[in-house]
Amino acid sequence: MSATDTAAPGSGLSFDLEGKRCLVTGAARGLGLAVATLFVQRGAHVMLCDIDEAAVRAAAGELGEKAAAVRCDVTRAADVQAAIDATVGAFGGLDVLVNNAGIEIGKPLHEISEEEYDALMAINVKGVWLGMKHAVPALAATRGAIVNMASVAGLGGVPLLGVYCASKAAVLRLTQTAAVELRETGIRVNAVCPAFIDTQMVERLVAPFEAATQSEFGDVVAIKQARLGTADEVAETVAFLASDASSFVTGSQYVLDNALTASVL
Ligand SMILES: NC(=O)c1ccc[n+]([C@@H]2O[C@H](COP(=O)([O-])OP(=O)(O)OC[C@H]3O[C@@H](n4cnc5c(N)ncnc54)[C@H](O)[C@@H]3O)[C@@H](O)[C@H]2O)c1
Repeated sequence: MSATDTAAPGSGLSFDLEGKRCLVTGAARGLGLAVATLFVQRGAHVMLCDIDEAAVRAAAGELGEKAAAVRCDVTRAADVQAAIDATVGAFGGLDVLVNNAGIEIGKPLHEISEEEYDALMAINVKGVWLGMKHAVPALAATRGAIVNMASVAGLGGVPLLGVYCASKAAVLRLTQTAAVELRETGIRVNAVCPAFIDTQMVERLVAPFEAATQSEFGDVVAIKQARLGTADEVAETVAFLASDASSFVTGSQYVLDNALTASVL
């Protein structure tokens, strides 16, 4: 086989998501909800899933008839399989999986309990792995795309976020490995690495961060990244990676950080 024999859509690449059938985890609020909202605006059908059933049903209701909701704890294989089945059942297939659900712990490493460590790793790492594992058959049928929510915290250390950093580094390695393993199936797998984005997760981090560092959180954000990013800005990159416009992009990590990681000071 020569390199030119492999499937390569040469034209008609589109940024829109018309007709795409998508599943977004952790979609009741924050980045997941912004992704689901933009996907619907771009023409996709979206299954929103979250462990917070009331909130995710309300969110899907706001998005109208192209959206539906299912309760799913991403740490449970049966829930993840059921969410994929629900997506295929509702929309007729699966084109895009966004593994977005995640939690944070804002504590020094030596103060984190074993239970907290296990819970974070189960959601942030096992949840992403389970999503990919169970979605492969449906995505192989459509030559679909996976977008995993990592973080700049996966690229280096951050005070108070050590276990979170480890979990996001793991997401990046899972993403790369899956991209290579799945290349022949046509499934693309990419990750995004946002810096601090204006969501409830960051609101929860302000008090522990200020207590531990004696610094104003806003001052640190101003120095490191000038401003908080918005969930809509992250959603735009996720939408690109979900779209046919990124047909030759797989195994990549897109950094959205307003040059935070470009600076050594
Ligand atoms: N906000 C940021 O600054 C930032 C930056 C980089 C990466 N991220 C990542 O983006 C993702 C979303 O973050 P966010 O800021 O929107 O957080 P958020 O706390 O606002 O929302 C997270 C959502 O995930 C859901 N969730 C939690 N555990 C779950 C489980 N077991 N199963 C299913 N759903 C579950 C929550 O109910 C919630 O709706 C996370 O993976 C986070 O690590 C966030």
